[in-house]
Amino acid sequence: MRKKLIAGNWKMNLTIPQSVNLSEQIKNGIKDIKLNNIEVLVCPTYVSLYPVNEVIKDSGIKSGGQNMYFENEGAYTGEISAEMLKSAGCEFVILGHSERRKIFNESDELINKKVIKAVDSGLTSILCVGETLEERESGKQNEIVKTQIEKGLSGITVDKLKNIVIAYEPVWAIGTGKNATPDEANDMHKFIRNIIADLYDKKSSDEIKILYGGSLNDKNCKDLLSQSDIDGGLIGGASLKSESFLKIIETSNNL
Ligand code: 13P
Repeated sequence: MRKKLIAGNWKMNLTIPQSVNLSEQIKNGIKDIKLNNIEVLVCPTYVSLYPVNEVIKDSGIKSGGQNMYFENEGAYTGEISAEMLKSAGCEFVILGHSERRKIFNESDELINKKVIKAVDSGLTSILCVGETLEERESGKQNEIVKTQIEKGLSGITVDKLKNIVIAYEPVWAIGTGKNATPDEANDMHKFIRNIIADLYDKKSSDEIKILYGGSLNDKNCKDLLSQSDIDGGLIGGASLKSESFLKIIETSNNL
């Protein structure tokens, strides 16, 4: 059985003291919830990673970066490496988020280099995929997602897949308050699982975690997270308040 993953992507929000405060609240809240078959992850900004990790160590909560560069070190002003994320205490890294693709022009080829580096470095890579509204309205969503997965996972061998999580985040659902319906999301998750079966094998497709992201909140999480092929959530806005994030964790834990 796939363990559910509830991941908070804090994006470019919260100062260091605010991040420490939120992680303390999550840590304290989680003590009252006996976590069954679920993992909890927070992805603060780079500067908050180390202080947040100091708070959450030994709590069972894991942390991840929101991006990284594929080189080891050197003259790459403004970038951060896999080893640096690990040294701050991270086990995960989000790669290919639609905000990186759109605002920072990240290509599938660049994202693929990052995925390979992350996995080779021992980080679990959360590869984000998803179509825009225009692409969905013209019926191209499957084609778009398939290309993003094929290119994003190029060169990733079957033995490395255990360090890959896929996040389906329809761009039209991110930060809009308009989530995909449980059926829409689950259909895409099944489609993604079939792509993995075609690229690798049935066992890998059964085992890989596929998260949903896009206006997931404490109200709609039960319907979305109870779907057969949705293995957790990548949550933006609703992960910035401990009440809503803890509610999502609790709901998912009780499914
Ligand atoms: P929202 O939950 O704010 O829609 O953001 C989703 C997201 O982009 C998570 O990576």
